[in-house]
Amino acid sequence: MSKGDYANKGIHTRLAHIGNDPREFFGFVNPPVVHASTVLFPDAATMAARTQKYTYGTRGTPTTDALSSAIDTLEGSAGTILVPSGLAAVTIPLLAFLSAGDHVLIVDSVYHPTRNFADTMLKRLGVEVDYYDPLVGAGITALMKPNTKVVFTESPGSNTFEMQDIPAIAREAKARGAVVMMDNTWATPLYFRPLDHGVDISIHAATKYPAGHSDVLLGTVSANEACWKRLQETHFTMGCCAAPDDVYQVLRGLRTMGVRLERHEENALDVARWLEGQQGVARVLHPGLESFPGHDIWKRDFSGASGIFSIVLSGGGEREAHAFLDALEIFGLGYSWGGYESLAVHVFLGDRTVAKGDYQGPVIRLQIGLENPEDIKADLARGLAAAAG
Ligand SMILES: Cc1ncc(COP(=O)(O)O)c(C=O)c1O
Repeated sequence: MSKGDYANKGIHTRLAHIGNDPREFFGFVNPPVVHASTVLFPDAATMAARTQKYTYGTRGTPTTDALSSAIDTLEGSAGTILVPSGLAAVTIPLLAFLSAGDHVLIVDSVYHPTRNFADTMLKRLGVEVDYYDPLVGAGITALMKPNTKVVFTESPGSNTFEMQDIPAIAREAKARGAVVMMDNTWATPLYFRPLDHGVDISIHAATKYPAGHSDVLLGTVSANEACWKRLQETHFTMGCCAAPDDVYQVLRGLRTMGVRLERHEENALDVARWLEGQQGVARVLHPGLESFPGHDIWKRDFSGASGIFSIVLSGGGEREAHAFLDALEIFGLGYSWGGYESLAVHVFLGDRTVAKGDYQGPVIRLQIGLENPEDIKADLARGLAAAAG
């Protein structure tokens, strides 16, 4: 079966077969990990014409092609670049589509390092930066200026999980000539396909669920036909290519991402529902819960939920948050998510300018891993008891 035929197959079939074609490498199931800088040319004319498929390590190898092509199948994109981290997957497309004098609109519930990049580097390069309410929807129109070139979205929002009306925002922003980008790390392309909803560029920290084992950093950026050339040229210009071993690890991770995600989703929803009934928990911020304000949008647009959400403790401050975290035995205290293990972090929301929220206690973000849910719940009960004490 040719690779193209898998586009219409079930998601687990796709994940098992997309990317490399074993027939191209003597039947070996997995592609080679090509460590490369120099590529040789057969003669001077071919070298001058640069017509051969591979020309230099920074411009692609059979290993990077395997992962890029797998992501294209999942995203429905015209092309995908691979970069050394999720953060680079945010910064490279912003640099590709913004110039001095342009204006960018960024969702206020954005991943903090994205904001930091905008507030430091983009501003230094002469780009005007504004933040907007994640619940703005079609109201984005009122915020757009004649020089608005990019509208940056992330849904659900980092740490507080606000759901954006992506189709409405994309429609309005594109009607006014802006490129729409989305950090889609939370859902992965399995649970949301941004390009199908009008987004031009889909961004992933493949560090999370695609890699899945807390040991690899990688980013992917997928573009539609209209944006692909410019994105690819910027990638080449920046020399920001991913390392072959990391690319291989992510391709390996993709093969099991579907089954891992199903378990993350099941465990996280089970734990989130249980937390809703626990003393000491004021709110559970999980888009898959009927009680969550953005639930309708999630249900309309997404086909699943991953394993990360937040809880709001019913009172207290840093002391209670630290007591909660320090009592946990299974949960690790660490940044990042998408690995097989549970993690917790006390969330900082002091950078928000619009979506400040009204939380009655500390917000704790939980990444629910693949452990048994009853052990996860017992651990969280320990944390809640410590916070109450
Ligand atoms: C939503 C989101 N985007 C991007 C990133 C950046 O990924 P990386 O850690 O690979 O730089 C993260 C990391 O936590 C994230 O949560």
